[in-house]
Amino acid sequence: MKAAFSKTTEAEDTHAMNYEEFHRWSIDDPEGFWGEQAQLIHWNKPPQKVRDYSNPPFCKWFVGGETNLCYNAVDRHLADRADQNALIYISTETDETVVYSYAELYREVNRFAAVLQSLGVGKGDRVIIYMPMIAEALFSILACARIGAIHSVVFGGFAAYNLAVRIDDAKPKVMVTSDAGMRGGKAVPYKHLVDESCNLAKFPPEKVVICNRGLDKGLTLVEGRDLDYATLRAQHMDAEVPVVWLESNEPSYILYTSGTTGIPKGVQRDVGGYAVALASTMKHLYHINPGETMFATSDIGWVVGHSYIVYAPLINGSPTIFYEGLPIRPDPGIWWKIVNEYQVRTMFSSPTAVRVLKSQDQKYMTEHDVSCLRYLFLAGEPLDEPTSRWISDALKIPVIDHYWQTETGWPMLSYLPGVDLKPNRFGSPGFPVYGYNIRVIDEGTGAEVPRGEKGVLVVEPPLPPGCLSTVWGDDKRFVQSYFSSFKDLLYTSSDWAVRDEDGYFFILGRTDDVINVAGHRLGTREIEEAIQSHSAVAEVAVIGVADKVKGQVPVGFCRLKDPSQLDAAGATEKMEKEIIAKVQELLGAVAKPHNIHFVSALPKTRSGKLLRRSIQALAEGRDPGDLSTLDDPNSLEEVRRAIGQH
Ligand code: PRX
Repeated sequence: MKAAFSKTTEAEDTHAMNYEEFHRWSIDDPEGFWGEQAQLIHWNKPPQKVRDYSNPPFCKWFVGGETNLCYNAVDRHLADRADQNALIYISTETDETVVYSYAELYREVNRFAAVLQSLGVGKGDRVIIYMPMIAEALFSILACARIGAIHSVVFGGFAAYNLAVRIDDAKPKVMVTSDAGMRGGKAVPYKHLVDESCNLAKFPPEKVVICNRGLDKGLTLVEGRDLDYATLRAQHMDAEVPVVWLESNEPSYILYTSGTTGIPKGVQRDVGGYAVALASTMKHLYHINPGETMFATSDIGWVVGHSYIVYAPLINGSPTIFYEGLPIRPDPGIWWKIVNEYQVRTMFSSPTAVRVLKSQDQKYMTEHDVSCLRYLFLAGEPLDEPTSRWISDALKIPVIDHYWQTETGWPMLSYLPGVDLKPNRFGSPGFPVYGYNIRVIDEGTGAEVPRGEKGVLVVEPPLPPGCLSTVWGDDKRFVQSYFSSFKDLLYTSSDWAVRDEDGYFFILGRTDDVINVAGHRLGTREIEEAIQSHSAVAEVAVIGVADKVKGQVPVGFCRLKDPSQLDAAGATEKMEKEIIAKVQELLGAVAKPHNIHFVSALPKTRSGKLLRRSIQALAEGRDPGDLSTLDDPNSLEEVRRAIGQH
């Protein structure tokens, strides 16, 4: 057997390689390539085999290797970086800044790991983390990783129903939450949503740990279940909790994401592959040295938060900025102030956030010296040319559009400044990242489409390290959702793409019913189900409509059981408000429809399938496309009329 870590000749001279050579190496010699990358992390026991692909499409990476994400993110740096900044927590909501060194982070993580153990949490147990962007959320994540517990962070903007669905799928032993988050200076209570979700769920957690920030004066505790974070922490001040070493392929976390059904999928991640993939991106892609600061403006509830606020910077020995607040409060210069103050080198944000800044007074772009910043990476939704031009002109640094998904955990298409930075082409997130063998194929035939033609972006399996290893508790769904769209075994991204003559990729939107609102991924089916639960609604279609700032917004088309309910003056507006409120109540503000149109029929095919793409085209003023399968031509007129009326 070939040694997992034997250095190849290429590896010794990585940086002499151009992009094409580097990518080719990763595809032609995955064992050599990833064996080399694996040296970027600490292994308690080195892997015996780089890759085991004996059971496609499932793939095991770094088989037999033992490691731990928390050890790599924290303990490993104590020798050289104990006093260096690790976590820079800044809240412009509560006006607090707390900086933790690696040594302090180590202490806090150990304390909370001991708390979890005292509550009976051990290897393989699930812990749901439903928290705002506060330091304790990061301690909880790393504490789980330390003891081999599987964390599942649920985005704080989701409401009780969403939370309950995830609880029932993950069956957590413990949930960690907070009394409230803050947004725009207002407290957003969390705890009562947790209570509601525990009532709705079939498998509620035994214990709920509440980090009380004193923001919710009406906070009530459930006897025997609810515990106070600070009190528990105080009982474990000197705790030293040994790291639980995990085989590389054991699960580290579950992150739920939307798909084509109303039930979110639990993306399951491994340990070793994830650590290696993230560490490699810090070097080759985000091009950031240990000790240099990273600022990702996402939220821990999303994949960008997991990978590039929590794990990757810390694994790299880089301080990470953990920001609670809006980009425009106290003023639209706040991010640049932070960049300057903490000498941020690499920043990661979303096109929506940049569009928000673009609509503000331009003086805020020049108030702070941001010459320390080398790159701004953007992802999560299409980056339009005006936004990209505006921000690159303002910052005078490379603004890098890159593309990936919750499923992959790290970038699939990008430019690689750490290897060979190719000239930017507006609208393109660049080229396949090393490890990904990407093709654009015809939706019907599965054959590769010629350059310049639209097709579905697919990855030839096995997926590289760090991508989802399966869907939590449902291997069948993993295969069905991601590997069953074509006659060949291929991972489907469910995105349309084009590759131009020079190899640059362009992403043209989803092939399924997933929409992207302000960079947040939402399933239209989930929103439809929430609307459907309003007793007046007979049927509904939700689509994503183009929006100047948010990229897309959800819009609903509803048929009521009794249309005469709208006859009275003001009844339409009242019903629209009620339905929007219902979505907010069940799913959270993030999923709130922008508006609801009432129609007497919805466009469907003769077999009863909703023609969402045609409705979307009409709503965006485009041609509705092929209507040969339309059942009732009247329904299209109905949609036109409803849009015109609004
Ligand atoms: O449709 C693509 C879009 O966002 C989806 C993935 O969203 P999520 O799972 O939340 O992961 C976001 C990780 C950054 C993709 O299927 N998307 C992501 N990046 C881009 C993009 N669309 C266009 N351009 C991008 N750079």
